Amino acid sequence: MLQLTPQTIRIVDVYDDGSHARHFTFEPKGFVHDNPISIGQFFMLTLPGVGLAPFTYTSIPDKTGRFNALIRNVGHLTEKLFSLGKGDVLGYNGPFGRGWPVGLIKHKEVLIVAGGCGLAPVAATIDYLINNGYSKSVTLLYATRDSASQVLKKERTRWSSSIKLIETLEVGGDSDHSGLPTQYLSHLLNKDDQYPDIVLTCGPEAMMMAVANSCVDLGLKTSDIWMSIERRMRCGVGLCGHCYVANSYACQQGPTYRYDEYLALESKTVAFEKDKVLFQYC
Ligand SMILES: Cc1cc2nc3c(=O)[nH]c(=O)nc-3n(C[C@H](O)[C@H](O)[C@H](O)COP(=O)(O)OP(=O)(O)OC[C@H]3O[C@@H](n4cnc5c(N)ncnc54)[C@H](O)[C@@H]3O)c2cc1C
Ligand code: FES
Repeated sequence: MLQLTPQTIRIVDVYDDGSHARHFTFEPKGFVHDNPISIGQFFMLTLPGVGLAPFTYTSIPDKTGRFNALIRNVGHLTEKLFSLGKGDVLGYNGPFGRGWPVGLIKHKEVLIVAGGCGLAPVAATIDYLINNGYSKSVTLLYATRDSASQVLKKERTRWSSSIKLIETLEVGGDSDHSGLPTQYLSHLLNKDDQYPDIVLTCGPEAMMMAVANSCVDLGLKTSDIWMSIERRMRCGVGLCGHCYVANSYACQQGPTYRYDEYLALESKTVAFEKDKVLFQYC
């Protein structure tokens, strides 16, 4: 059932993880998650007197309900959150939205392209694939501006022994690991090698679009590419209208979209903006 009153969770662990980013472990206080949580869904954190904001589960709740999140300090709410510590209590709602197509990616060659904090929304997927015996079919291309911007250090160290992990830096990488992630795609989408069946991408929207378009140029279908789209969100349940992607609510139909679905929505936005008659009535 839709539960809009925040429930209480406690911070049980917190540590710095990348510049301006922290790794949090939360534990429910006096409630159990009543809905199953799909990988790639998100939750809302409420700080009384400050506001609420959406964040991704970087791990699915364990038997005690504990889960992790990677949070970057960018503004009003996150700054206040960074002043809290172990034992502090917050409001929680969730899960919300549509997760990654986990059922589809089992038994497939999966290429994950993440940029910066965009690693957080794919972290639970990587763990799921490793824990279920699919690690040989997973390649992660993780791109950041510089080494200080890299996040989820402990997770990347753990993953590096089981999946193919390529880390690139825009600034300061060695000759094999520098530049933009799109530079590496022609090598990774090489038909003689392990050609991916499916690509998941998450990061700045411009990066995801460049990755998706390069993958299409290299032979992948738009229906084989998935991305997680970030919009400003307030209610998480299709009531406030903050999160439109054309006529879709990113909080409900997203945040993960298949690229062909996203392109169809984008073309509706363009058509809408061109339609002057409709526009006058807005
Ligand atoms: C589905 C979803 C999942 C998310 N998961 C994570 C996560 O796992 N970790 C994480 O660190 N962040 C995540 N975010 C982003 C996070 O919600 C924002 O960083 C947070 O709301 C900022 O709140 P604030 O009050 O600190 O910043 P504000 O003071 O509100 O804003 C600070 C700056 O960030 C910009 N901004 C704020 N929210 C957004 C947004 N949604 N899209 C684009 N720009 C924005 C503002 O325009 C402003 O420039 C997610 C967002 C969505 C929609
Ligand atoms: S966040 Fe309110 S409609 Fe999506």
